[in-house]
Amino acid sequence: MLTRRTLLAASCIAAVSLFACERKTEPAQPAAPTAKPAPAAPQPAKDKKLRVGFAQIGAESDWRRANTESIKAEAAARGIDLIFSDAQQKQENQIKAIRSFVQQGVDAIAFAPVVETGWEPVLKEVKQAGIPVILTDRVVDVSDKSLYVTFIGADFVEEGRRAAAWLGKATDGKAMVAELQGTPGSAPAIDRKKGFEEGIKAFPQIKIIKSQSGEFTRAKGKEVTETFLKSPEGKQITALYSHNDDMALGAIQAIEEAGLKPGVDIKIVSIDGVRAAFEAMVAGKLNCTVECNPLLGPQLFDTVAAVVAKKPVDKRIVTKESVFEQSQAAEAIKTRKY
Ligand code: AHR
Repeated sequence: MLTRRTLLAASCIAAVSLFACERKTEPAQPAAPTAKPAPAAPQPAKDKKLRVGFAQIGAESDWRRANTESIKAEAAARGIDLIFSDAQQKQENQIKAIRSFVQQGVDAIAFAPVVETGWEPVLKEVKQAGIPVILTDRVVDVSDKSLYVTFIGADFVEEGRRAAAWLGKATDGKAMVAELQGTPGSAPAIDRKKGFEEGIKAFPQIKIIKSQSGEFTRAKGKEVTETFLKSPEGKQITALYSHNDDMALGAIQAIEEAGLKPGVDIKIVSIDGVRAAFEAMVAGKLNCTVECNPLLGPQLFDTVAAVVAKKPVDKRIVTKESVFEQSQAAEAIKTRKY
């Protein structure tokens, strides 16, 4: 049976060079002439399957489901032993999952943090165990950047700027905007807001008059839009900026139920680029979607392989993305993969 000490030693060997294992060793002692040679340190078997723990946020949106599918499919295609955990939007569940991955002695841990803050203690435990951490999709806010090897994901601030640039162009720089924010405290909600606010500075007549979280879900996006439309400012709204497509799709329903034409009476720009958003554009109900690529499986496991082989990897890996307008939707939908 493997002892905890053996497991720890094996984890240290598998750890990335960038991510030095912190286990302290005793200073070397001169060997006694009669001492037997020390047993060789355990080496990972060449054909041993890689074990990777992945702590997913949940299944709140089409984007997230496509992201999960990409990770699972890629792990299966590469014969990786993936231990997958769904945190159902709760940071405490993600932390529990990460601790259990450590106990199981995985070769690497990857996760998409639901919120930015509060990760330091658990990441220190992972570092202590010598297991490399790869962030996907969202980043963590930690002062010690050595707590993770790399962050693979989109530039959310840039996505917000792209949405603002599109809206400025499409409205001749004049709009009264209702904003649907993502999960409070999450990197995409913080950064997409920041990028959009930065982008509309170029258009002094674009104003955000309502802003609230719709938690990245369709149901909440609909509910919040209903309250926007019923509010005293409701009649002034000419545009909707949604931090993801799912909330925009919920908003479309609310706008229709209020007797208005989504995409016409209220221009809508959102982020993700999921198939349902393209369908809404083809139907003339959504005006623009800024792409955010969820298909991170191949990049994630390329990175895991490099890290375990102790090859250097970039601290930040940004995914490439585009912007799609209504006029491009019918053609683009033919090749959408998610
Ligand atoms: O972190 C990416 C965001 O999370 C996506 O834009 C959203 O749809 C998802 O839930």
